Amino acid sequence: MSKQSEHGGAFFAAIGDDFSTLERSSKVISADVLDAWFDPSPKVIKKVREYLSFALKTSPPTHCEGLIRIISKQREIPQENIVVGSGSSSLIFSFFPHILNKGDKVMILDPMYSEYPHILEDVIGATVYRHVLNKKFDFAIDCDLLVKDITKIHPTVMVLVNPNNPTGQYLGKEDVLELAKTFSDVIFVVDEAYIDYVERDKSVEREVVKHPNLVVIKSMSKVYGLSGVRLAYLTAPVSIIEKISQFIPPWPVSLVAQIAGVEALKDKEYYTQKYAETKVLREAMIQDLLIPSLRIFDSVANFFLVNLTGTGLSARNIVEELREQNIYLRNCDSISKQFHDDFIRIAVKDKTSNKIITSALKALL
Ligand SMILES: Cc1ncc(COP(=O)(O)O)c(C=O)c1O
Repeated sequence: MSKQSEHGGAFFAAIGDDFSTLERSSKVISADVLDAWFDPSPKVIKKVREYLSFALKTSPPTHCEGLIRIISKQREIPQENIVVGSGSSSLIFSFFPHILNKGDKVMILDPMYSEYPHILEDVIGATVYRHVLNKKFDFAIDCDLLVKDITKIHPTVMVLVNPNNPTGQYLGKEDVLELAKTFSDVIFVVDEAYIDYVERDKSVEREVVKHPNLVVIKSMSKVYGLSGVRLAYLTAPVSIIEKISQFIPPWPVSLVAQIAGVEALKDKEYYTQKYAETKVLREAMIQDLLIPSLRIFDSVANFFLVNLTGTGLSARNIVEELREQNIYLRNCDSISKQFHDDFIRIAVKDKTSNKIITSALKALL
């Protein structure tokens, strides 16, 4: 059996993963995963609460027909260009094995969300090329350099995470589309798990209608506060949707998740407000951590990357010390070989938790 990719989520050790002590959850700061700091829309909570018993015991619409209709309406994407799954992790595993073969060339970014190198290299056996993003340039994508690399390697698939995790860097919508246009025989897979945190609408999810080589994977975990129910959608040209939809099983999404997703998608006003608040919280947190020895990478999302070189402390030290206080941060070592016990990633939480994180960090430094 191939190994599994490493993720955050160590905080469940403090809460208890058999859920017998869930009351501890209010005392643990889970900033090692990038879940939304805010609750799902009150409309989600109301509907799920009201129909919880029904939702738990009833078979959901088999192929999520209503949910797909609402995604189509709210996000302005034709229904035939959408498939849904229980989290983008599930969609990633339904998608790549059906468009790639062992040995196919794939290009990814480095650093980048580690599930991609895992499925591509360890599971499928693709030949993975890394477009290395440079710390000197804040890990931002330089399109000219990327174009050079794609031209040289000519991969079957190029994967972008935009905004990128763990760097928080964002590549403009026009640049993404220009890349897809320039390399029309390369499939561009764009993971937009954090896109709604970017100010103004930057998604390329509906552009799949015009670009036959564009696929967008959109988690509903991080921007709708729905990580626990597992929900995501993927948009792609019809030819690709037809190829992968036969591998999506019936009832791929629980009824609770379908109901929650529909209500969330309809409450744009609530979430827009929360994205604006996230920006304020992130900026305040970064401001609070402005210490000469600490290098913080600016971010457009609900997390940011911190370089510890110069503090005399290692990522392992900090992560372990803070765990003693029930504060969980992510040591980035497993994400990229560029990281050598010197980078941590911090999720933006609510104001009180952020203060606890920054105070504890400052006390250590
Ligand atoms: C870029 C990116 N894509 C996908 C995921 C997984 O999302 P989901 O909860 O939809 O499986 C994550 C989780 O951290 C992520 O950072």
